[in-house]
Amino acid sequence: MNGDWIPRQAEKSLERLIPRIRPALGPEDETHQQLWEGFETRLRREWERLFRLLVHLYGWQYDFFYHLEQILATAVRSWSERPEYLKRLDAEREENPLWFQSEEMVGGVLYVDLFSDKLAGLPEHISYFKQTGLTYLHLMPLFAVPHGYNDGGYAVSDYRAINPDIGTMEELSALARILHDEGISLALDFVMNHTSDEHIWAQRAKSGDPDFQEYYYTFPDRSLPDQYQAHLRDIFPDSRRGSFTWNPDMGRWVWTTFQSFQWDLNYANPAVFRAMAEEMLFLANVGVQVLRLDAVAFIWKRLGTDCENQPEAHMIIQAFNALARIAAPSLMFKSEAIVHPDEVIRYIHPEECQLSYNPLLMALLWEALATREVKLLNNAMKKRIRIHPECAWVNYLRCHDDIGWTFDDADAREVGIDPKGHRQFLNDFYTGRSPGSFARGMPFQYNPDTGDLRISGTLASLAGLEAALDAGDDDRIEATVQRINLLRSIMLSAGGIPLIYLGDEWGMLNDYTFLSDPAKAADSRWVHRSRQRWESGKDLNNAEALEWRFYNELCQLIQLRKKLPALRNGYMEVFDTGNVHLFGFIREYAGQRLVVINNFSEFVQPMAQAQLNDATAATRFADRVTGQSVTNGKGLTLAPYQFLWLECLSV
Ligand code: GLC
Repeated sequence: MNGDWIPRQAEKSLERLIPRIRPALGPEDETHQQLWEGFETRLRREWERLFRLLVHLYGWQYDFFYHLEQILATAVRSWSERPEYLKRLDAEREENPLWFQSEEMVGGVLYVDLFSDKLAGLPEHISYFKQTGLTYLHLMPLFAVPHGYNDGGYAVSDYRAINPDIGTMEELSALARILHDEGISLALDFVMNHTSDEHIWAQRAKSGDPDFQEYYYTFPDRSLPDQYQAHLRDIFPDSRRGSFTWNPDMGRWVWTTFQSFQWDLNYANPAVFRAMAEEMLFLANVGVQVLRLDAVAFIWKRLGTDCENQPEAHMIIQAFNALARIAAPSLMFKSEAIVHPDEVIRYIHPEECQLSYNPLLMALLWEALATREVKLLNNAMKKRIRIHPECAWVNYLRCHDDIGWTFDDADAREVGIDPKGHRQFLNDFYTGRSPGSFARGMPFQYNPDTGDLRISGTLASLAGLEAALDAGDDDRIEATVQRINLLRSIMLSAGGIPLIYLGDEWGMLNDYTFLSDPAKAADSRWVHRSRQRWESGKDLNNAEALEWRFYNELCQLIQLRKKLPALRNGYMEVFDTGNVHLFGFIREYAGQRLVVINNFSEFVQPMAQAQLNDATAATRFADRVTGQSVTNGKGLTLAPYQFLWLECLSV
């Protein structure tokens, strides 16, 4: 598209649209004026970008201008309904747009039903969240869903209704406010790739309404599905093969990338873009500050491709981002793209997703824990940890999903690792099949065609606690505690926001009871989605309990993180420690420089002076973990699984 053409048309369209959308703000009184002024400033700032994206995506439709007007009307209506406290937050965040890069940021994620049964019960736990140091809380999907199997809430039947077993939208909105007042930002999923087949749009489609059939990808016969299918991968090969489902009500095939009841939305239809924008802004007005964009890689289809990570998928997110900047400026996006690392990074930009999961760091930490070597971790992180300076990684060890070995094959080959064999080794290791393995993981989604397999399990069970407890072996228990703390050291000191999967803070073990529930038995991810409870404060009499140890040691590290300005922002430089077992990186901010070194082996490991000199010219350090001072000149010695956070004291 000619670059000169867009600005002029954008301007013309906006001047035509403004008088048509403004009346949504009500009679032209003082309130109207105030509402309009802020809105207009942002609209004019973002408009050309939004217009350009929408023209690219939908400009070929004969009724494009109609859709443009609908989209803007949605934005203006949503702004007029935005609660005052959120508008104040918008202003604060516009003043301090990089607030999320603070060393104070620590996230937690939980399932409401598993954690507190009901939404109404969650506020009771805020003191626990605060004591743990959380400033960000992600509630796993809690919307209305089909009864029975619903992919853990990821098949949404109504974005504006909470699952009645959990609570109500009013309770969510009240909770968002309370959390905000306590300094905790609420994060929620925006399950944007698909709805459940019980969503009203799907129901209308099933009843034969062609407008709603166009909300999804539906086909009268197999000819197009077969052409698409030839290039697609199976996401849940254990439960089903192929990406299309026959719907007898419609007498049509529907695109269902994930489960057969999760219908992919058709974003090539501007009505879908607008409808989903409305749901997004609704959630923003409920008080959600961060939306986790679920399964973003899949939202655009193109024949002849694998239909993942298409350029238009990025454009759709960017257009949502521009709309959010206009109508809910403090709303941020976190991308959930669990794809090849080259692709993960493409979703990260201030104008797309400001936050992103860091699946590569997660997977490679487990890889290094199994191999006791950091060569792949080192090689990959050197190249791939850097992102746009106004964005941040979300660093995690475990989440509600499986672990997939998503490293780049070339990264592996560069350090002498055969990627296929290595994935096989890791799968054997983490399912406890290989000799000497400490892990108790479960296989997830074995694909016999490709040999691919992923791993389920809790942090503690994967790191060895379950096996050590079963063996009643204190040394092994001790080694597990050290391994877990080592991983935590990296999660809390690497550039980005650490995210704790709640339960892991006290060493939750795998829970195999899901195997007797027919709605869950086929999905091993339920082994780490458990009702087990422990909460500091309830078990005060037993300060010796292992749970306390896990919890206290994590809290101490979190408190330490919050005191170290060097851990602000994303700057992180990985360096060669000269020892294949030691992973080292430098963090620096506001004149503070930290050298972080992590020993992945169960043996004492030296780091030579020469390597330390290469990393820093400091002559003295304080290890902020143990409080001991270290004089440069003799190299370093790290105990098994030890980690050092060395503050450079003099140069
Ligand atoms: C995301 C979720 C996962 C879910 C899938 C389909 O990857 O994390 O749990 O199964 O999307 O919605």
